[in-house]
Amino acid sequence: MHLGVIGYGNITRALLDVLASEGQTPERVTLLVRPAQAEAARASGAEVVTEAAALIAAGPDLIVECAGHSAVVETVVPALLSGVECVVVSIGALADANLHHAVTEAARKGGTRVVLPAGAIGGVDLLAALKPSGIDSVVYTSRKPPLAWKGTPAEGLLDLPALTEPATFFTGNAREAALAYPKNANVAATLALAGLGFEATRVEMVADPSVSQNIHEYRVTSGAADYAMHIEGKPSPDNPKTSLATVYSVAREVMNRRNEVAI
Ligand SMILES: NC(=O)c1ccc[n+]([C@@H]2O[C@H](COP(=O)([O-])OP(=O)(O)OC[C@H]3O[C@@H](n4cnc5c(N)ncnc54)[C@H](O)[C@@H]3O)[C@@H](O)[C@H]2O)c1
Repeated sequence: MHLGVIGYGNITRALLDVLASEGQTPERVTLLVRPAQAEAARASGAEVVTEAAALIAAGPDLIVECAGHSAVVETVVPALLSGVECVVVSIGALADANLHHAVTEAARKGGTRVVLPAGAIGGVDLLAALKPSGIDSVVYTSRKPPLAWKGTPAEGLLDLPALTEPATFFTGNAREAALAYPKNANVAATLALAGLGFEATRVEMVADPSVSQNIHEYRVTSGAADYAMHIEGKPSPDNPKTSLATVYSVAREVMNRRNEVAI
């Protein structure tokens, strides 16, 4: 397999380590990175390019985006148009309805598909499968320690360091959540895209001094099954905002394309 990866941050570095530790390093890896990161990225042993066109010209079988909103615009859309399957990790970027449309159209025109991994959560397979049975409600709660909300609008709503009890500071739909809290948008967007869409998916955000991990809870009611998930995400050592589970979820996408059995 020739794997293309966009970005050389926390997820990419950990992804390459997980693939290596599982004996699943692809035969060829090409990384698309910002010029300032090219030298560090070369030390990984992968081929390194700094332009979207160069990544596409290298002819990867699969591209994994682990970078951010701009990478979806600059690289994923043209890669899909040229027929390369792409895994998008920055799913929150798809809360932008125009970008969502551009990505979908590019995949259609390119005769390929864009894959949205489960990322920090699980149970997305069940939610997406239940869709034809009629989904009645999806309610997601993001519960984090108060200081994990630093640098977000929650800072202006609450005295985060002084909290002694859980405080719900946001209640709204997934579109509002993703636009107001873009750094925390990925899970809300994933649930919205798998289930009821951005307008009907309910989101709550809680600053909770009694927790030390990033907790994702959601409840689904539907025609075929009702279920609830509770995930206590352990933070990545290099970027506490990213749950470690995300790295493993992306590794699974790559390994499922290399192995005889996909699960
Ligand atoms: N789906 C999920 O559940 C989930 C969970 C966690 C993180 N994420 C998303 O995954 C992405 C990566 O997370 P991370 O922890 O590795 O972040 P990070 O900041 O550690 O690394 C991202 C890297 O990508 C680079 N980059 C940004 N735009 C680029 C571009 N257009 N071309 C090339 N490189 C570019 C940055 O310079 C940075 O080095 C983020 O968008 C994050 O929101 C998704």
